[in-house]
Amino acid sequence: MSGAEFDQHAAAYDGGLDNPVKRMMGDSADQFIAVKARWLLRREKGLFDGKLKLLDYGCGAGDLMRVLTDLGARADFTGCDVSQGMLAEVVKRWPARHGVPPFLSVQYGPRTPFADGQFDVATISAVLHHIPVTERPVVYAELARVLKPGGRLYVFEHNPRNPLVRYVIARTPIDANAILLDAREVRAGLQDSARYDLDTDYLMFMPPGVAFLRDVDRALAWLPLGAQYVVAAVKSR
Ligand SMILES: C[S@@+](CC[C@H](N)C(=O)[O-])C[C@H]1O[C@@H](n2cnc3c(N)ncnc32)[C@H](O)[C@@H]1O
Repeated sequence: MSGAEFDQHAAAYDGGLDNPVKRMMGDSADQFIAVKARWLLRREKGLFDGKLKLLDYGCGAGDLMRVLTDLGARADFTGCDVSQGMLAEVVKRWPARHGVPPFLSVQYGPRTPFADGQFDVATISAVLHHIPVTERPVVYAELARVLKPGGRLYVFEHNPRNPLVRYVIARTPIDANAILLDAREVRAGLQDSARYDLDTDYLMFMPPGVAFLRDVDRALAWLPLGAQYVVAAVKSR
C-alpha cells in the first residue's frame, strides 16, 4: 500500500480493533500497544531520563510514542511515516499534558530523511508486513544507517505462527495486502544489513487488558507462539 492508501485509514485507525476477535482480547487499542511499551520500558531504562533520541519508523498515528509517554517515558521522540494522514493523527491525538508532539517527518518510500547515526533507539512496529518483501532490505539498511554505534533497534511484528493472528489479519481492512514475516526472517534481514547482537521475545499470549496475567506472558517469552514478537538488535560499536 502507498502512503495515500494508508491516508484513507488514518482518521479511524485503531490498530485493527474493528475485528471482533481482537476486541475479545482487549477493549482498547492502547492495551495492545501498552504490552510493547511496557516491554520497551523494562529493556530501555534510559527512556525515563529524557536523554535518548528515539525514532519510531512507520509511526502511524503515534500510538507507541504516546503510550510510552503515558507510562512515564521522557525521550526525544521522532516519528516518520509514508502517510501524511497518519502523521496528522499523531498531532491530533497527542495529549496537551504531554507537551509538544514528537518531531515528525513524512517519507517517500522506504528511505528515511535522517542523517547517519542520529538515534540511540529505533522502533518499527507492525510496519514490515506492509512493505513488499523486495523492499525490506532497504528498510533494514536505513534503520542500521540512522542508528548510532551501540544503538538499539526493536522490531515488533505479528507472529504468523499464531493461528489467531492469521485469522485476525486476514479479516482486517488495513492488512489487506499484508505479507506476514516470522522472527527468523527479521533476524536474517537484520544480519544482512549490519553487525548486530540479536535476541527475540514473544509477547501477548494472554489478553492484554488482564493485568494479573502479565507475569504469565513474561514467563512464556521464549515460546514462539505469542501473538506478537520483538526482535531486539544491538548495533556493534
Ligand atoms: C499498521 S500501521 C502501524 C503503525 C504504528 N507503527 C503502530 O504500531 O501503531 C502501519 C504503518 O506503516 C506505515 N508504512 C507503510 N509502509 C511504510 C514505509 N515503507 N515506510 C514507513 N512507513 C510505512 C503506514 O503508513 C502505517 O502508518
